[in-house]
Formats: sequence, C-alpha cells, structure tokens
Amino acid sequence: MHTQYEIFCEILGEKLKPYLNKKIIIYGCSRGGDFVRWFLQRYYSKKVKAVIDRWELSPMVTIPHLWSLYYIYDEDDVIINTTAINIVDEFDDTGEKWQNLLYEKKQIVDLWNQIYEGGEARRKGSGNYEITYYDWLEYTYQIDLLTTVKRAFTQGEHAHGYVPTDFRIFLEGFQKYELDVQKDAVLDIGCGKGSGVIALYNMGFRKIGAVEYTKEIFNTMKKNLELLDINFIEVDNDGTNKASMNKVLCYCTDASQLEKELDQYNWFFLFNPFSLEIMKKVLDHICGSIKTCPRKVYIFYVEPIGHRLIMETGVFELRHKIMTDMSDVSYYSYIYESKNK
Ligand SMILES: C[S@@+](CC[C@H](N)C(=O)[O-])C[C@H]1O[C@@H](n2cnc3c(N)ncnc32)[C@H](O)[C@@H]1O
Repeated sequence: MHTQYEIFCEILGEKLKPYLNKKIIIYGCSRGGDFVRWFLQRYYSKKVKAVIDRWELSPMVTIPHLWSLYYIYDEDDVIINTTAINIVDEFDDTGEKWQNLLYEKKQIVDLWNQIYEGGEARRKGSGNYEITYYDWLEYTYQIDLLTTVKRAFTQGEHAHGYVPTDFRIFLEGFQKYELDVQKDAVLDIGCGKGSGVIALYNMGFRKIGAVEYTKEIFNTMKKNLELLDINFIEVDNDGTNKASMNKVLCYCTDASQLEKELDQYNWFFLFNPFSLEIMKKVLDHICGSIKTCPRKVYIFYVEPIGHRLIMETGVFELRHKIMTDMSDVSYYSYIYESKNK
C-alpha cells in the first residue's frame, strides 16, 4: 500500500517527467516554487535553470524578475508555472508584451492547474494552495495543517505558536539513520495540528506519540488524523497506554508533565515548541527516563534554542547539524544522541 506521500510524489513526478530533458525555469518562488525545485533535485537529480517571479524577489537568493524572459531564452526551455497566475497576463501586466518574447505559449506548463484541477483551489481565507505536500494534503483530504496559530493563542506562559514543520526537515534528518520503524518509537513534543505526526507516519513509523497543550490545536490534530485515516488513541492523564503499533498516542497536556510516559520512546522530536523554562523540565524528565530505563535516546530538535541546556546535561552529544534550505526561511535541526549504548 502506498503512503499519502508516495501518492503525492507519483502525481507530481508524472506531471514533471516529460520535461526532465528540457531546461526548466520555474515561475513562482514562494513555498510551491521552492518545493518543486527541491523535488526535481531530490528525486530526479535535476537542477533547474532558474526560478523567476514578478513580486516575490528574495534578497537572500537570486530570483530573476519575470522580465528576464527577454534575455534568458533558449528553445529548449520550459517554464513551469507553480502558481495560479496566468503567466502571459502577468507578463503583459508589467507593461511589456508577451508577443515580443521568443517564447511560445506551448513552452509554458501550467503545473498548478494540473495539480489543482481548474483553479478553484483556494485555502479558506489564506490564498491559494501551493504545490507542496502539506498543501496537497489539505486540498485532497480537507485537513487543516498550514494555518499557523500565534503564541498569544497557545496555552502556557512559555509556549511558542504553532507552525508546521516542513516535511523536508523530517526527510533530511531521518535519512541519516537506519531506522527500524517497527521498533523505533517517537514522541512529537508540542505536536500542534499533527504535521509532524503525519510526516512520521508517512515515513513508516508505527509507534508514534504526540503531546500538545492547547486543547483547540489538539482537537484539530485529532480531526486531521481522522480525515487521513490514521488511527490514534487519546491518552488519559493516568498515561497507562503503551506505545502501540499503528495507533498514535495523543496526550493533551503540558509536555513537562510527562514522565513515565517517556520511557516508551527512543526518539524525541521538537520544533522549538517552548522557551527554556519548559525545555529544562522536559530534558530533566528525558534524562530521568534514561536512568530508570537505560536505552539509546535521540533528540531531533528543529530550531534548537535549548542547545546549551542539552549539552549541559552531559548525557547527550550533538551528532548532526542539518540546514534545510527553503525559499522564505531556513531552519537548522540538531540531532543529539545519548552517550550510553
Ligand atoms: C512549532 S509548533 C510544532 C509543530 C509540530 N511539532 C510539527 O512538527 O509540525 C509548537 C507547538 O507546541 C505547542 N506547545 C507549546 N508549549 C507546550 C507545552 N508545554 N506542552 C505541549 N505542547 C506545547 C504549541 O501549542 C504549538 O502547537
């Protein structure tokens, strides 16, 4: 059986394959354009010729303006439109004329329309879907992953807001390890709406736990899992359930309250969920758990603001520093391993 990620890759791959022997120019440098650039590189070792845009010109990376179509022309080019915008109209809207270009309209591939079938695909109140895995999941299964929740609306004085972890971060981190997804058990600490859980599930993990303090966000995660047909159990405060195969254990509580529950996990994933005050307590509990239940433990920490605290425990060593480069922002992830065997 294919995972949802494999299905998405197959759909996107099929649309892109006919152009792999061409020079690819991507139109659109926001989330979607960047995802397609990454996808071509990762799965087809295909480097794109350029990413162009009219508006979203990045000061950090070189994104040529749409007008560059005047001078970067090659007859082997295809322009893959990753946005809902009509490129010809957009070009003419700049005061220039598409017909003055050497490009023919047939060199444009309307990828966005092919993925989102006809242009009606708008996310509720948040603009169009983009061509990324999470957007596609939202569109296909009507889930809610991408809308962020500001800090002011999350539970706990030291809590950070909800932002989903980009799927690429999981792929790039876990590919460093030979995982035994039937045995390895991972707890997403500050799991938000479940983007991490969904990513972990798609990567094959079958022992997953998820803890989220804010009730509303937690409820959204449960609904998302239901819509995606991912089984879960909501764990009561007595925490008696054991990491069970094929059922995500969901805890709606402050992560620093979990203690004995931690014994069943050997991976802890965090995307900078809270400030150092809570991180310190969580770390104390993880270290305590290693003492009572000796085992090798890994901490996968995205945006690791608590790095110094982890090093100060003396229990962990930093094994990997990974930078995931995305169009708008790049994140560092640090992976720590406990020193015991
Ligand atoms: C950046 S989001 C992480 C999203 C998720 N881990 C993922 O991979 O997509 C951080 C989440 O941590 C939650 N959080 C903050 N403090 C918490 C605490 N003390 N216990 C549990 N969850 C907490 C926030 O409500 C927010 O949803």
